[in-house]
Amino acid sequence: MELAKRLSKLPPYLFVEINRKIVELRAQGKDVVNFGVGDPDLPTPSRIIERICQAAHDPANHRYPETDGLPELRAAIAEWYGKRFGVELDPAKEVLPLIGSKEGIGHIALCFVDPGDLTLVPDPGYPPYSLGTILAGGEQYFMPLREEKDFLPDFEAIPDEVADKAKLMWLNYPNNPTSAVADLGFFAKAVHFAEQHGLMICHDAPYTEVAFDGYRPPSFMQVAGACKAGVEFHSLSKTYHMTGWRIGMVVGNADMVNALFRVKSNLDSGVPQAIQYAAAEGLRGSQENIAEHNAILQRRRDRLVRVLNDIGLKARIPKATFYVWARIPYGYTSIDFAETLLDELAIAVTPGTGYGRGGEGYIRFSLTIPDDRLEEGVNRLSSWRRRA
Ligand SMILES: Cc1ncc(COP(=O)(O)O)c(C=O)c1O
Repeated sequence: MELAKRLSKLPPYLFVEINRKIVELRAQGKDVVNFGVGDPDLPTPSRIIERICQAAHDPANHRYPETDGLPELRAAIAEWYGKRFGVELDPAKEVLPLIGSKEGIGHIALCFVDPGDLTLVPDPGYPPYSLGTILAGGEQYFMPLREEKDFLPDFEAIPDEVADKAKLMWLNYPNNPTSAVADLGFFAKAVHFAEQHGLMICHDAPYTEVAFDGYRPPSFMQVAGACKAGVEFHSLSKTYHMTGWRIGMVVGNADMVNALFRVKSNLDSGVPQAIQYAAAEGLRGSQENIAEHNAILQRRRDRLVRVLNDIGLKARIPKATFYVWARIPYGYTSIDFAETLLDELAIAVTPGTGYGRGGEGYIRFSLTIPDDRLEEGVNRLSSWRRRA
């Protein structure tokens, strides 16, 4: 069988080896504590589950949905942006539901990237930003996210000829994997940069509701010119613990939203309607679950970060996201160190290079594991240090 050449351009899947080891260790009866997966361990709020059960009984929801989504969901998304960020959106033209935001993130490259076109991608970064460009035949320029620059890209360091050639720029704050945050001043700079160089911005913002110590991350759409310069991807996955439901959205520039709608309407048939009604309930109903979840995550964050810093794995205290991005000891690669933790402590983490070369020197811990498992992992880490 001859595979398409584009498949050979996909980067090797670094997590395969670690996943294989986890399965092997568990088969040997080892109790693996898995800090690798960024998937909320709490259930979806019951009001949302009740709404889907009700909608599932309605035969109208057993039929094909429309790709552009139910007007009710588009209106709920626009209302939520209004209430949460003070951003006014036209639900008919500036909002499109997605089958999870990852789906839209992957597909948008097909709208704007031709073979040989250039995109600007953060490094480290969530892998689908790159993969969309690769599958569309484009090229990438990696914008390093460095700790000394608070993991924000340095627009001034991007050569003019690169910025002028680029069609799209990916940004993501609060950030996975570094957990860095950006303020409105940074987003304003990004809009200015996009205007100067004639490029489109795709801002990915699934973690704006996962934040601590009273901090409320802003939306890119809040700054002047954002709705002209680009779009924002968002998701119900992390906000309402709905990763398995596959529901997200893109909002912003009407032409970009429409281009994505055109690609999607030829490839998929939209989000199942019962899920759309449940998502509208999520966005419109009580938001209490968010503060409750964040309080749990904040306690876990404090527990883990204290121990990591005690044992010499330097980590900043994240203001948002459920990730802790920790520096590994000198002399290891991030893969070697992740494997060492797995072999010696049966603790699974994500090696930084899973997010690009710029992730070298770091590992990522996710806080989405139950408290007792986190405690078990933290105790193993502390006693490891004492033994060493
Ligand atoms: C930065 C980032 N963007 C997008 C997604 C995808 O979320 P969804 O479940 O909406 O596809 C994730 C999931 O981990 C993520 O970390």
